Amino acid sequence: MKFTELGLNEALLKAIKRSGFEEATPIQAETIPLALAGKDVIGQAQTGTGKTAAFGLPLLQQLEKQHNSIQAVVIEPTRELAIQTQEELFRLGREEKAHVQVVYGGADIGRQIRSLKHHVPAILVGTPGRLLDHLKRKTINLDEVKTVVLDEADEMLDMGFIQDIESILNYAKNRKQTLLFSATMPKPILHIGEKFMNDPEIVRIKAKELTADLIDQYFVRAKESEKFDIMCRLIDVQGPDLALVFGRTKRRVDELTHGLQARGYNAAGIHGDLSQARRMAVLKRFRAGKLDILVATDVAARGLDISGVTHVYNYDIPQDPDSYVHRIGRTGRAGQNGISVTFVTPNEIGYMRTIEQLTKKKMSPLRPPTDDQALRGQLKQAREQIEDLLKGDLSKYEDDANELLENYSALDLVSAFLKNLAKDSTAIKVKITPEKPLPFKGDGRRHRRGGNRRHFDHGKKNYRHGGKRREGGRRNDRGHRGRGNGHDFVIKNKKD
Ligand SMILES: Nc1ncnc2c1ncn2[C@@H]1O[C@H](COP(=O)(O)OP(=O)(O)OP(=O)(O)O)[C@@H](O)[C@H]1O
Ligand SMILES: [Mg+2]
Repeated sequence: MKFTELGLNEALLKAIKRSGFEEATPIQAETIPLALAGKDVIGQAQTGTGKTAAFGLPLLQQLEKQHNSIQAVVIEPTRELAIQTQEELFRLGREEKAHVQVVYGGADIGRQIRSLKHHVPAILVGTPGRLLDHLKRKTINLDEVKTVVLDEADEMLDMGFIQDIESILNYAKNRKQTLLFSATMPKPILHIGEKFMNDPEIVRIKAKELTADLIDQYFVRAKESEKFDIMCRLIDVQGPDLALVFGRTKRRVDELTHGLQARGYNAAGIHGDLSQARRMAVLKRFRAGKLDILVATDVAARGLDISGVTHVYNYDIPQDPDSYVHRIGRTGRAGQNGISVTFVTPNEIGYMRTIEQLTKKKMSPLRPPTDDQALRGQLKQAREQIEDLLKGDLSKYEDDANELLENYSALDLVSAFLKNLAKDSTAIKVKITPEKPLPFKGDGRRHRRGGNRRHFDHGKKNYRHGGKRREGGRRNDRGHRGRGNGHDFVIKNKKD
């Protein structure tokens, strides 16, 4: 559907055009008119289908200019997601100079307070902990707030966050509208949400599957001790542009990161024990394509929108099927294709089946690559590297090259060069400490990370974080991607 048919004003239509969005996605087409009409809305749609703009555009349109108070609050479960959402709202509201501010833990609260005092934002985006902190200090006032959005609503209303959310909603007692969005919305959680809402409209974008259509989902059966070598080989063969690797614990993330680095991959890890500055720096490098592989703990999965993630490797299978949906949803976004590979040890088959029941999609079995296939993958990348090198100025090397060519055949020289570039990645031994899965209890849906999550905002606890197919995937070329095939909206190029 066209954005022009949704009742949005000229300024927003201009911003939409500038963002390169051509058509509204189904969740946008259905929820924008409802939200503009002032209704409470619960919106559920697959990952990467533009839910941020679905709530963001009506928020922006409903702002009253010259109003020196906070008019809308968007609550996000993680700092990085809060920042990302603030940026998207700022971009969409640029024409009308909408003032959108973000507050999150791990950042200097004094500076946030000064900035809030200096210029009261029309829209405030924040993580629950930091929002409450400001509310208790009376450095923000939500009396005039008309709309509250819970992004990743099921996560927000789950045990870890619910108390904080209730408190924040109590502060925003004069609100006229509550909006809930997520890719997953288990019934019990939805009922909790309805208690805070006024006769909400529930919009579920009916898709055959809960997971995004454009993700090819695979699994590899492997013993715990085999997983790392197999993953390296898969990376060699599949040649992801940008890959996310999910590990179960912080230790796992650290070990996987070091192991990948030892084998020459351009990888970095991110989890809650790292400083906020470090987390942001790693994410920035990954977003800019300066890092090929980001290793993360599970909590990072939700909401992060990083263009060009082609592969998601679940080094450890998620024990909560909802988090599987969010994890693999970091790829296959906005019309691009993606691949996910989930490692399953023999005693984790139960988890896999529960995931498949939720997603209504079977993962296809993938065989571990053979030595020969891995070498071929390495050679393919080596050739691409050589092609890149040939584009540079090589004049400095000509004398030595000529000398070598006098003594050896060109064939031998090139072969030696290839041998050096295409190393067998598994030759360097890496030991990853085994991590036991939680015992499988038959229903993975809600026995999960529990109360700790409320503390992500405070820095110490577990941190949540968060294409092209394998043919033609090149590591160092993530600039401009083709149009997604068969999807109903058009890719936006993030770099525009
Ligand atoms: N109508 C559109 N056409 C093309 N691209 C769009 C459109 N709307 C949003 N996008 C882009 O699609 C990407 C994914 O959007 P967004 O992050 O809002 O997805 P989401 O549905 O919130 O996913 P998740 O469930 O993972 O949070 C973003 O880069 C966004 O700018
Ligand atoms: Mg989102």
